[in-house]
Amino acid sequence: GAAVEVDISDLKPGEKITAEWRGKPIWIMRRTPEQIAELPQLDGQLADPKSERTAYPTPDYAKNETRSIKPDVLVVIGICTHLGCSPTDKLQPGPQPSLPDDWKGGFLCPCHGSTFDLAGRVFKNKPAPDNLEVPAHQYLTDTRLLIG
Ligand code: FES
Repeated sequence: GAAVEVDISDLKPGEKITAEWRGKPIWIMRRTPEQIAELPQLDGQLADPKSERTAYPTPDYAKNETRSIKPDVLVVIGICTHLGCSPTDKLQPGPQPSLPDDWKGGFLCPCHGSTFDLAGRVFKNKPAPDNLEVPAHQYLTDTRLLIG
């Protein structure tokens, strides 16, 4: 399918937008400095913190602590790696229904309860076996992203 260009110049810290590529929802989120700082602290709770599993290989340029090219900008396919539902946003930290009390923000799959952090990394002991997929992408300019 054709690559899709997305302008992220209006994307503010803490905001997420959804683009479409090959019929799939592509989530683009600009994380706050606090959200970025939390990511390494979650590693022990995650199934594949370094994105080493190969079912949905993470591109080399996103094999880092933030799973992204720019530390603040997350780009993932918004489809659960379990059976393909689309997780919902649970971006606010703190107690929320069906989430741990110390929830730091991320995504919850409504189908069978898999949870993902703000780098799309799946928590341990959840039905989803893998982190959310990072699609092939690159920056054309500082604010123009090319997906695909
Ligand atoms: Fe997401 Fe089953 S489809 S947990």
